[in-house]
Amino acid sequence: MKDRSNFSNKLGFVLAAAGSAVGLGNIWRFPYLAAQYGGGTFLLIYLILAVTFGFTLMTAEIALGRKTGLSAIGAFRALDKRFNILGILAVVVPIIIFPYYSVIGGWVLKYFTVFITGGAKASAGDTYFTDFISSATEPIGWFLLFMAFTAIVVLCGVEKGIENVSKFMMPVLVILTIIISVYGLTLEGASEGLIYYLKPHMADVSAKTILAAMGQLFYSMSLAMGIMITYGSYMKKTDNLESSVRQIELFDTAIAFLAGLMIIPAVFAFSGGDRSALNAGPGLMFITLPKVFASMRFGSVIGTIFFLLVFFAALTSAISLMETIVSVFMDKFGWKRRFTGIFVAVLALIMGVPSSLGFGPLGFISWNGMTVLDIMDFVSNSVLMPIVAFFTCIFVGFVIKPKVIADEVKETDGKFKAEGMFNVMIKWIAPLFLFIILVSSVASGLGLFKL
Ligand code: PFF
Repeated sequence: MKDRSNFSNKLGFVLAAAGSAVGLGNIWRFPYLAAQYGGGTFLLIYLILAVTFGFTLMTAEIALGRKTGLSAIGAFRALDKRFNILGILAVVVPIIIFPYYSVIGGWVLKYFTVFITGGAKASAGDTYFTDFISSATEPIGWFLLFMAFTAIVVLCGVEKGIENVSKFMMPVLVILTIIISVYGLTLEGASEGLIYYLKPHMADVSAKTILAAMGQLFYSMSLAMGIMITYGSYMKKTDNLESSVRQIELFDTAIAFLAGLMIIPAVFAFSGGDRSALNAGPGLMFITLPKVFASMRFGSVIGTIFFLLVFFAALTSAISLMETIVSVFMDKFGWKRRFTGIFVAVLALIMGVPSSLGFGPLGFISWNGMTVLDIMDFVSNSVLMPIVAFFTCIFVGFVIKPKVIADEVKETDGKFKAEGMFNVMIKWIAPLFLFIILVSSVASGLGLFKL
């Protein structure tokens, strides 16, 4: 195998992969989904799916990367030429996600700056957020800045850049999350929110809950987009793959759970128990939360810490997106990291501008009620991701056969504890569910029917 950058040890690998997994999906999306789909029941369903589906796909991807020592495109092709197209599709996903994810990263950076400079009150104004995102130039400036941070880390390489940044940011993120959750729980009226979050509400549970949990799981664990394949290719053979996957899952799920603890009780306390405040969707983080912070004692400080931690989470995820694209171009064309990094950054800047302008000057572009950014999100997450995940299962289950993955997992100590479950999941259960997810999310995105 040619000389390839590596994570220096298992901890470095786990923290970098967890850095990719823990992102806006955990902090902003998970809490409101959990609130909407039955509280404790959603949590339980999510947990079961994480240790079965999440485990299966993540193990398969990391093993594919480590076995071949290649990023997504090369990895599939190296094992079977016919699946070259699957590698290409897997890389199209981060190419679409990276630009718009960075646009949102820019919004987070803006809010952090506003809070740290004492603008907490102003940011709680009703039209503050919409005024901001509909302006033509300001969000693009923040987008550029966010992209610059990401690019600098990626240009520094795997060990010096990604690993070091993750080793610092991930523990800080955990500590900040715990501080805010504990503070939030002390607010008056918070305990009802806590009960609401943790107590199962069977009436809110339906087939849709399982699909929502599953969609969230894939997104949250950065699956089906070549990322874990790429990171796996930087993993040492001497590091235990199975326990690494368990640790990444645990990390990702724990942060999502804590994000719920951080947000739901505080929003409940603020809204006097009105749960509809939680259904604000994308507006939850940028419209509702600033109001919550403005109404709290120490709200400016808490808000500043909150947006700092969201920034860290978004940055480590953006880094993984960019690294995946960069590594593919490097593998494919033999380019140097430096040149590739700059090339990818410029490409992403060009692609991200329409997503940003979609809330202002390009607001007339809309498809089934979706803005440019929503369309990007729909195509990548609701269409491409399930397709890639489905064919990855078919590829592993029926083409190369699960044994190839099992052998790779066993490299370190000869063991693969969950091998039996892995085999059944990857061949039968996961593809079946993925197929259902694909059909239902495409249909509901196109407005054909709602489950
Ligand atoms: N997993 C990240 C999150 O939960 O926010 C988001 C993400 C990162 C999605 C990387 C996609 C991706 F390729």
